[in-house]
Amino acid sequence: MSLPVIFRNPEELIRWRKSLAVDKSVGFVPTMGALHAGHESLLITSSKENDFTVLSIFVNPTQFNNPDDLEKYPSTWEKDLSLAEKNAVDVIFYPEYKLMYPDDYKFKVTENDFSLKLCGAHRPGHFDGVLSVVMKLLNIVSPDRAYFGEKDYQQMTLIQKMKEAFFLPFEIKAVATMREQDGLAMSSRNVRLTAAQREQAPLLYKIMTTSKTASEASEKLQKAGFKVDYIEDHDGRRFAAAFLGDVRLIDNVKI
Ligand code: PAF
Repeated sequence: MSLPVIFRNPEELIRWRKSLAVDKSVGFVPTMGALHAGHESLLITSSKENDFTVLSIFVNPTQFNNPDDLEKYPSTWEKDLSLAEKNAVDVIFYPEYKLMYPDDYKFKVTENDFSLKLCGAHRPGHFDGVLSVVMKLLNIVSPDRAYFGEKDYQQMTLIQKMKEAFFLPFEIKAVATMREQDGLAMSSRNVRLTAAQREQAPLLYKIMTTSKTASEASEKLQKAGFKVDYIEDHDGRRFAAAFLGDVRLIDNVKI
């Protein structure tokens, strides 16, 4: 187990990337930290498929439409560091806002169709922030392959489409959602659930997978105490977002 190198400045990472021999491949796992077993599976896949793995930890303010959600986003640096070490991460990119946004977000990537549906319809500007930061990160890291979890299926799809639209020369790879034993999709936000909410939370997955229609699922979720943001069937998948207290959970399943 060797310690990952930590870069805070994009220039340092760009230099490191350029210093690698041309036949060495780089896998990239972008995150906002508060790492869990779901991230671990992305890191394991990346280490298997590449010579080097870069992990970024950056809580990207431009994708938070709700300042309270940004404020409360969990931060677990020491734990993240040991998880990175354990999973053979070579480089951690841990930049500051000013260095990531030298333009102070005057430039952005916008998609005008799928990004306005599902989560996008309920979180204005969210996907502009995601796509913009992912574009920046991909350009800085210049990976051969970048890994995204299917838990954020809409995000993953939009990133795939951005890659096609802008001819980005990086492979975008989807990794299956990791679930707790009771079915709850792993998420950094789960640590914010109270003990009672944590017991209730797996009902989201259970109800999504056992209801015949999205509206039946919505009714059942509301009866079970969730505040439903949306639940919709789209292109053979069922997508849902629902609150327990002020914690917003999202999930999606194939139907
Ligand atoms: O999925 C996430 O953690 C974030 O949306 C991402 C892709 C790291 C961009 O900030």
